[in-house]
Amino acid sequence: MSKYITTPIYYVNGEAHIGHAYTTFIADTMARYEKLKGNKTYFLTGTDEHGQKIEESAQKNGKPTQEFADEISASFKNLWDEFEIDYDKFIRTTDADHKIGVQKAFEVMHAKGDIYKDFYEGHYCVSCETFFPETQLVDGEFCPDCGRTTSTVKEESYFFKLSKYEDDLLKYYEDNPDFILPRSRANEVKNFVKGGLRDLSVTRTSFSWGVKLPESMNDDKHVMYVWLDALMNYVTALGYGKDEELMNFWPDTTHFVGKDILRFHAIYWPAFLMSLDLPLPKHIAAHGWWTRDGEKMSKSKGNVVSPKEVSDLYGVENLRYFMLREVPFGQDGDFSQRAFIDRINSELSNDLGNLLNRIIGMSGKYSDFEIDSKDVQKYHAKELDAMNEALGNLDGFMQNMQTHRYLEELWKLFAIGNKAIEEHAPWVKMKEDKKDEALATVALVANILAKASIMLSPVMPKTTATIADALNFTIDNASYNELVIDKKLLKLFNIKKVPPLFPRVEEPLMQEAPKAMPDDKPNDNMKEDLIANKEAKKEEDNLIEIGQFFETSLKIGVVVEAEEVPKSKKLLKLQVDLGEGTNKQVVAGIKEFYSAESLINTQVCVVANLKPAKLMGMMSEGMLLAAKDEDGLCLVRPEKPKKAGTPIG
Ligand code: MSP
Repeated sequence: MSKYITTPIYYVNGEAHIGHAYTTFIADTMARYEKLKGNKTYFLTGTDEHGQKIEESAQKNGKPTQEFADEISASFKNLWDEFEIDYDKFIRTTDADHKIGVQKAFEVMHAKGDIYKDFYEGHYCVSCETFFPETQLVDGEFCPDCGRTTSTVKEESYFFKLSKYEDDLLKYYEDNPDFILPRSRANEVKNFVKGGLRDLSVTRTSFSWGVKLPESMNDDKHVMYVWLDALMNYVTALGYGKDEELMNFWPDTTHFVGKDILRFHAIYWPAFLMSLDLPLPKHIAAHGWWTRDGEKMSKSKGNVVSPKEVSDLYGVENLRYFMLREVPFGQDGDFSQRAFIDRINSELSNDLGNLLNRIIGMSGKYSDFEIDSKDVQKYHAKELDAMNEALGNLDGFMQNMQTHRYLEELWKLFAIGNKAIEEHAPWVKMKEDKKDEALATVALVANILAKASIMLSPVMPKTTATIADALNFTIDNASYNELVIDKKLLKLFNIKKVPPLFPRVEEPLMQEAPKAMPDDKPNDNMKEDLIANKEAKKEEDNLIEIGQFFETSLKIGVVVEAEEVPKSKKLLKLQVDLGEGTNKQVVAGIKEFYSAESLINTQVCVVANLKPAKLMGMMSEGMLLAAKDEDGLCLVRPEKPKKAGTPIG
């Protein structure tokens, strides 16, 4: 089996921060895990270097754009090298091969009739490199994604026929429920598509720092839109457009991305691929955002966590462990030194580090450091069963990117080891002249540590290599197969002493972040952050204002007509009376649970002010409320009949 794992490519307009480190750690962990299992794996990371934002940052820094991009790109690459990120390729969008691939893609899309020339007039956010319609702007001026001021632009542009792919995209989401992970994020993408896709402007004339159009277009006024250029990196890295030898890693792919760029990856990217007649990736896995001590990080607040500073003080592997253990994948996470220190001291130092020290100490005292697994099964069958059960659960968690559950489950092994030592008290057994039994407990723990180290190695590769060295084996696919899959025990060996792996941390090692005072007046820089913070907070809490709820018009409807949609397994087409004079057409995915006839003259609850959207070529002007669980779907209906059009709320 082959696997292809990618991080987003990072903009070269500033140094790496903890959010970038998280995406890279999780992707690196997944790639190492696949390699450990013996799967051929290709892991890609890199930098995104074109666009107006980079051009402007270079100007601010008084540097030629290429020189500026070279420097920042190198700073990312050096950091990942220092962190021993095990990537197979570091791509830069300024690489010649990449540009060739992007130009080829443009030609293919154009030849297919998916690209045409027109004019664009709209509001552009330079920071997000995205156009927004006026209706989406905050206070008619600010970007709905990052809160920065947008500018009005009118320019000639080539457009990609994104709208053509609406139905295909919706069908793909439906047919591939694990395309967007976590699954809970899929709805926001589906709703966005259902709301109607506008064709996408994919070239710019207002700046020149970008990939030129292919020569065959004979138009040198335009450069490529940065997101078309950037997304293509995932296949140009494999040789698309040039030498496609590595394309065999496509499409068994997991793209790790932050939730802020999910839309680009789950809508634009698959549409581009469909236009190129390439298969679509398996998963777009979207993680949440990191805050510091509960606050959004920003340069103006001076609270951005530098991964370099943290790793210099606490160790990069401790940081990897903390980030992957602390946050359920997909949810937002908070970096606080207190929480970090607690995990180092209790989970790494106490649970894991002490266990190793204890068996080194005991084996030194009782058997001259010799560890022999011969009696483990005899005295510890119960512990071996419990250990194997936990080991067997791990793969499922990792496949779902549930790193926190994975590590939690792995830590059960250390609990089993520590409990066995307490219960069997080898020092008492030695006094009672039951040396075999005492040594069996020590050997049980050595085996637990060996197996756990193998499974912990994708998260903490260097630390676990040291543990394996102490236990006289090497972590690789062979030992994974032998000790984890085949459940064998360690052969007779002499354990080595190692220095404590996780020194306890007594005091925070890093200066605390400056706190904003309640009466701080926002300056101009902070205004942007405040808007962005407001938006991010709303999303974080998942709470809405009451007014937002009332923006949705919910009404009682009476189904007047109902029919099956031909060729669709899921859809029924309904005419619903909402007391408005004319009926509304609602296309609903409920065919598997209701027959058309059974719905006629029944009451339903309808979202009545949805923008009409097309489903399988038919207009749908509303949505029915329904509840779905593993037992199926049921419509939400009023307890007693109400007049058609009665408002709900
Ligand atoms: N260049 C684009 C990606 C193009 S991929 C074809 C980009 N770059 S970025 O440098 O701005 O962001 C890269 C990643 O870092 C994104 O996945 C983003 O979600 C992530 N993070 C940036 N800040 C973050 C946090 N505070 N917390 C977690 N991740 C965040 O977008």
